[in-house]
Amino acid sequence: LNSTFLYFGRREGEPPLIQGWIPYLGKALDFRLDSQAFLKNNQEKYGDVFTVYIAGKYMTFIMNPLMYPSIMKYGRQLDFHEFADQVAPATFGYPAVGSGRFPEMGDQIQRSFRLLQGENLVLLAECMMANLNLVLRQDFLGGEGERGAGVVGMAWSTGGLYDFCNSVMFEATFLTLYGMPAPARRHSDMATLRHHFTKFDDMFPLLVGRIPIWLLGRTKAVRETLIRYFLPQRMMCWSNTSQFIARRAEVLEQYDTLSDTDKAAHHFAILWASVGNTVPATFWALYYLINQQEALQAVRNELHQVLKLPEAQGPQQPEVIVSKEQLDQLLLMDSAVNESLRLSSASMNIRVAQEDFSLRLDEKRSAPVRKGDVIALYPQTMHMDPEIFTDPETYKYDRFIEGGREKTDFFKHGQRLKYYRMPFGSGSSMCPGRFFAINEIKQFLCLLLLYLDLEMEQGQEKAQLDNSRAGLGILLPTKDVRFCYRIR
Ligand code: HEM
Repeated sequence: LNSTFLYFGRREGEPPLIQGWIPYLGKALDFRLDSQAFLKNNQEKYGDVFTVYIAGKYMTFIMNPLMYPSIMKYGRQLDFHEFADQVAPATFGYPAVGSGRFPEMGDQIQRSFRLLQGENLVLLAECMMANLNLVLRQDFLGGEGERGAGVVGMAWSTGGLYDFCNSVMFEATFLTLYGMPAPARRHSDMATLRHHFTKFDDMFPLLVGRIPIWLLGRTKAVRETLIRYFLPQRMMCWSNTSQFIARRAEVLEQYDTLSDTDKAAHHFAILWASVGNTVPATFWALYYLINQQEALQAVRNELHQVLKLPEAQGPQQPEVIVSKEQLDQLLLMDSAVNESLRLSSASMNIRVAQEDFSLRLDEKRSAPVRKGDVIALYPQTMHMDPEIFTDPETYKYDRFIEGGREKTDFFKHGQRLKYYRMPFGSGSSMCPGRFFAINEIKQFLCLLLLYLDLEMEQGQEKAQLDNSRAGLGILLPTKDVRFCYRIR
């Protein structure tokens, strides 16, 4: 049995099955240990499409990115929301949206995502800019904050880079989406909220893996504290709340079957969605730039050109505002951010088959799929494919730019790929916050590059990706790294 390759009960034409010998768990442990290596090994042995038995589920992996466009076409037969509606409620603690108790809620929530996109981004970007300036200037650039005082007078300060990105992005994103106690005022308990959030986030992979919360020590109590932060009577007192969150609150208000705690849990889930990936993504974007000063300087030069600013722009001068239009012109910065996302993202795209059907993979091949089977894409293997990206392990800040324009042609087996970058998922499960996320990371970089000189502290190891949340989004570093900064 140990040889793992069983055909028991397989129907003709179904992909090879890799089953493992542990009842129920199947190959879950091998997958968790190093999912990228596990999938690549199996691809070498069994080809582009194979089924793995993982934790009670038959998961069919589609490894060839040339097949991705065909998969995206099966929106009706391959559903994402059924899966999400099982995992998210158990993780964040609200009743399942699709349970039948909340008619039309799912559709209303989907429609609210538009408020994160299109013309709504202009106002969101404006608020984010103001909030980034508020937090950065007060805490780090010689404002009223305790740490701010350290950098005045051209002295270098040091700190943990992840900790820095986390404290600024968490709070600025929070203020932009949920609002503030009064205009231009900060919440007094943000550090505590962030502390609880980190505790919860540490357990996130286990919760998504369906480990019951009561087995996870104080996690339940921590989650309750986080949820209470968003009780309707508290949120009502906040001003400058984004239209997105305000609309969600309105939708939730329509359902008497939701308790106040349930509503708060929904808002808490959005907090996780909006910072859980953005903070590590910001860390990697900045980390790679600081490590490659040539890249940092090139991106800074582009910024000066677009803003038409003189060489140095210290924070003593009026605060810098980068408009949405200017952000869109920062193509080199865009490329640098996308390159760090390519290197750090490991999200799995999951679909559940709603019926038995034949899944067309490309012009020649199809595979029979059974109702309830899971179809999975694992774009990290594409992001790290040397045929698509030369030297895939190397950070090349200008990888996605060519002749002054965005580079969009990447090839596999001589064929141009429709999808070659997928940190934000795909098709029906694509992240609705992706434009806002890229904007806010770019805004953060703009301010730092304009206000600060930045270097890594000497004599430390390079940051490593922590694989424990492979499949769930942007990977965190195994430990924080130290950096130095001073006002330019
Ligand atoms: C969903 C990635 C930032 C809101 C997703 C998914 C991915 C993703 C991969 C799909 C999950 C799946 O297929 O299971 C990212 C990354 C981000 C980011 C890499 C930052 C770099 C944001 C931000 C927001 C947001 C800033 C909100 C303001 C959401 C929401 C969903 C989602 C609401 C669920 C969509 C649904 O249920 O249909 N994100 N995200 N994300 N993201 Fe993001």
